Amino acid sequence: MIHDPNRIYVFDTTLRDGEQVPGCQLTTNEKIEIAKELELLGVDVIEAGFPISSPGDFQSVVELSKAVKDPIICALTRANTKDIDAAAEALKYAKRPRIHTGIGSSDMHIKYKFNSTREDILQRASDAVKYAKKFVEDVEFYAEDAGRADIEYLAKMVEAVIAAGATVVNIPDTNGYCLPDQYGAKIKYLMENVKNIDQAIISVHCHNDLGLATANSIAGIMNGARQVECTINGIGERAGNTSLEEVAMVLKTHSSLGKYTNINSKKFAQLSAMVSRMMRMPVQPNKAIVGKNAFAHSSGIHQDGVLKFRENYEIINPEDVGIDQSEIILTARSGRHALKHHLERLGYVADKINLEEVYERFLILADKKKEINDDDLLSLMGEGDNNY
Ligand code: KIV
Ligand code: ZN
Repeated sequence: MIHDPNRIYVFDTTLRDGEQVPGCQLTTNEKIEIAKELELLGVDVIEAGFPISSPGDFQSVVELSKAVKDPIICALTRANTKDIDAAAEALKYAKRPRIHTGIGSSDMHIKYKFNSTREDILQRASDAVKYAKKFVEDVEFYAEDAGRADIEYLAKMVEAVIAAGATVVNIPDTNGYCLPDQYGAKIKYLMENVKNIDQAIISVHCHNDLGLATANSIAGIMNGARQVECTINGIGERAGNTSLEEVAMVLKTHSSLGKYTNINSKKFAQLSAMVSRMMRMPVQPNKAIVGKNAFAHSSGIHQDGVLKFRENYEIINPEDVGIDQSEIILTARSGRHALKHHLERLGYVADKINLEEVYERFLILADKKKEINDDDLLSLMGEGDNNY
């Protein structure tokens, strides 16, 4: 690992937290295909699965370990020896294996999930890390439901697992409960109060139940976290996980924050489409960065502005995320500038067109149709099959 505090490691869990979503299950071959693309994207860690959960998931971790060379391959476990044994076995071909073990840290989980006590859970956490260390050097610990955990107890747990040998400590907001200020303050508290914090990397893992996963992850990063856990398209349990493409583009767009990743953002459009297709999970059109409308302009004022100077209404160059160019959609809200732009694109010479007259007919048609396409434009110009 590089010792630059501003270099943020990207831990992709599309194939584990993302794949837990009903209907999104992948075959081993599909997982390998995605993992190879994630490697080209430049992620630092690929969470390949939860080996004890099924023979299929076990085998996927084995095959991914063989297929991937640069990123760390990580396998999830609960804090028990059987899970850890399975993970260690599944990771045996990985060039850079990591076991990701953990247990609940909120009083709610301790009482109602484990029917246990804080002291017992603390012991089980340390024991799990020590046991995992027998197999691999790189052990990540997750303090499940850390978003709702008592901060002093959480700090004790983080200190104990680092003392037991954890190289990375994950502070999940498992239920997407925190506000960005609260989550950022949690990370800050841990950075300032855990005595051995410099011996491990703190990781953020946020869920999107309140639509705050990306904001919370950024708040965590700005307060000292150096690893971010995320998925392509923000796919994941319930409302999903932090979206990889959003976090990477926030850090890139706001380079003045001084934080950077190794991600090649030009691959986003293609990888987003691949994951959506293989997982049979459509991307919402207004999804930031990779949604169909993320670079589409439909109102006349915005179209005119973007045609005059792209940055008037775009903070990201579409080419930076693998999209050739922004789209100017012709609707009844479009203006003359957008119409002229499309007519020129179709080979008409602006000076030779009576734009006012075409625009009048265009509006009448656009009021009847949601979108005006090239065929419609040709018909408006007296060509094509329809007569408008
Ligand atoms: O959300 C969560 O707490 C998790 C852990 C298993 C890391 O996914
Ligand atoms: Zn999760």
